[in-house]
Amino acid sequence: MKRFKNLNISFQNHIITRNKREQLHGHQAHVLWFTGLSGSGKSTISGNLEQLLFQNQISTYLLDGDNLRYGICKDLNFTDTDRKENIRRVAEIVKLMIDAGLLVITALISPFHNERELVRKIVGKNNFLEIFVDTPLQICENRDPKKLYKKARLGLISNFTGLTSPYEIPKNPDIYINGTEKLQNNIKKIIDELKLRKIIYKKFIF
Ligand code: ADX
Repeated sequence: MKRFKNLNISFQNHIITRNKREQLHGHQAHVLWFTGLSGSGKSTISGNLEQLLFQNQISTYLLDGDNLRYGICKDLNFTDTDRKENIRRVAEIVKLMIDAGLLVITALISPFHNERELVRKIVGKNNFLEIFVDTPLQICENRDPKKLYKKARLGLISNFTGLTSPYEIPKNPDIYINGTEKLQNNIKKIIDELKLRKIIYKKFIF
């Protein structure tokens, strides 16, 4: 707080609030934070989930790690320090999007426990669901959709998650997804959880 005082800034409360926006959208604002290895299925599951939510008039926005690195995070690499900054920036973007009343979906490896906890703190624990897409490294490597594991094995990519950079497995994710399970089953599991938590409460068609 002191730091902010020294900057001579003060928080402005505006007339249109998150609560009013949530009423307009007809659902709660929240973030579904997907974490998992490259090739685990985060982008596929989150993309299909977003499509289904969108078809049901839920206001969503999908923040994909790869895509963010073309713009807001294009100055960042894959060192531990840069990954931490990557996650911190995305958390701040998510915080704004939650204030905008959106159901935000993120698909980033987010390999470190401490940074995932930082996200929980930045966006608020009541707005945050950690979804762990658990797919064995061997399967991710066999899938290798972007041929990055192959490059990493050849030494052409450094700090590659799962090979030369760690992935810290979430100990207690809010939603556990078996990445080798059928896509539709995984999506249903997430939708059921959103309904249970009353994040979405309108009539929903699969
Ligand atoms: S994170 O670790 O900072 O959360 P992020 O999700 O933004 O990672 O980016 C991961 C994506 O970048 C991967 O899906 C892959 O396409 C690409 N990538 C490029 N280099 C690496 C690397 N060294 N480790 C992991 N992913 C990489």
